[in-house]
Amino acid sequence: MKALVLSGGAGTRLRPITHTSAKQLVPVANKAVLFYGLESIAEAGITDVGMIVGDTAAEIEEAVGDGSQFGLKVTYIPQERPLGLAHAVLIARDYLGDDDFVMYLGDNFIVGGITDLVDEFRGNRPDAQILLTRVADPRAFGVAELDHSGQVIGLEEKPDRPKSDLALVGVYLFTPLIHEAVRAIEPSWRGELEITHAIQHLIDSRADVRSTVITGYWKDTGNVGDMLEVNRMVLEGVDRRIDGDVDTTSETIGRVVVEEGARIVNSRIVGPAVIGSGTVISNSYVGPFTSIAENCRITDSEVEFSIVLRDSSIQGVGRIEASLIGRHVEVTPAPSVPSAHRFVLGDHSKVQITS
Ligand code: G1P
Repeated sequence: MKALVLSGGAGTRLRPITHTSAKQLVPVANKAVLFYGLESIAEAGITDVGMIVGDTAAEIEEAVGDGSQFGLKVTYIPQERPLGLAHAVLIARDYLGDDDFVMYLGDNFIVGGITDLVDEFRGNRPDAQILLTRVADPRAFGVAELDHSGQVIGLEEKPDRPKSDLALVGVYLFTPLIHEAVRAIEPSWRGELEITHAIQHLIDSRADVRSTVITGYWKDTGNVGDMLEVNRMVLEGVDRRIDGDVDTTSETIGRVVVEEGARIVNSRIVGPAVIGSGTVISNSYVGPFTSIAENCRITDSEVEFSIVLRDSSIQGVGRIEASLIGRHVEVTPAPSVPSAHRFVLGDHSKVQITS
């Protein structure tokens, strides 16, 4: 069995972060979202991974390499444009050959891995198996309709009037039968070859399509709110580890990770929180559910329930909450006179000001 991991896409909902970097590489508890997926694939006993890459190919390749850091053998498959999930299957035809495969969307986050699911699929070997979960607003997803016995009878991609609250999770198990289906469908209104339509095609041709409703935690990390939520959830599970320097006037409370090479000076860190190596926190407060990546400077400030990417500095700005701060960002106070805000903001930035 192989895996097909999708790591292309524009990541429009995570702009401006994704103007300059791949959405799958935004870190959760200081580790790229994509890496959690690759680890689950390796854990499920799969080693051959085809990785679909787009505009951000160079960055993904730099981060993942040949996959050996995960115990995987990664082959890159370039997709010229994001033409849909079924298009990704289409262009991976030669790589996948006649093997069964798990398709994994690189920006999806599933707690508990996929081992049980892969084992179940290997045991029963239906033509396809999909994962579903209940969501508050199904209109943002592919949506499944089940009959009273739990059989999937219909799938719709981002319907205006969803027939259920069961959203398609971004992990799919396929036999080679899917290759015929992806060739048979037409692009959707958004110009993409939808995997949802390919699976509907399987259902229409009476293939055995099974579904599993997962109750565990799942998020499509497409937007900032979801990223912060996944970060919060992952941090809930970290164990306390202080490998960096914490001076005697500082306090670290609860599940706090201070990586080697990080320094905490006259500050208070309340976990769960992680502080990356090379980062210096001074005269500051870092509150729960916060991930500060490598080589940041937090000075005379307070940061809580936020993600700060590497090489950024936050200095003398009071309290920051529920924020996603990119790489090489500087946040500083403005001079008090004139009383005005000064910005250099990238395209699609979002700023909320309290005063
Ligand atoms: C894709 C699928 C959708 C699925 C979702 C899960 O949506 O088309 O059916 O529910 O992934 O993350 P997209 O990310 O392309 O909007």
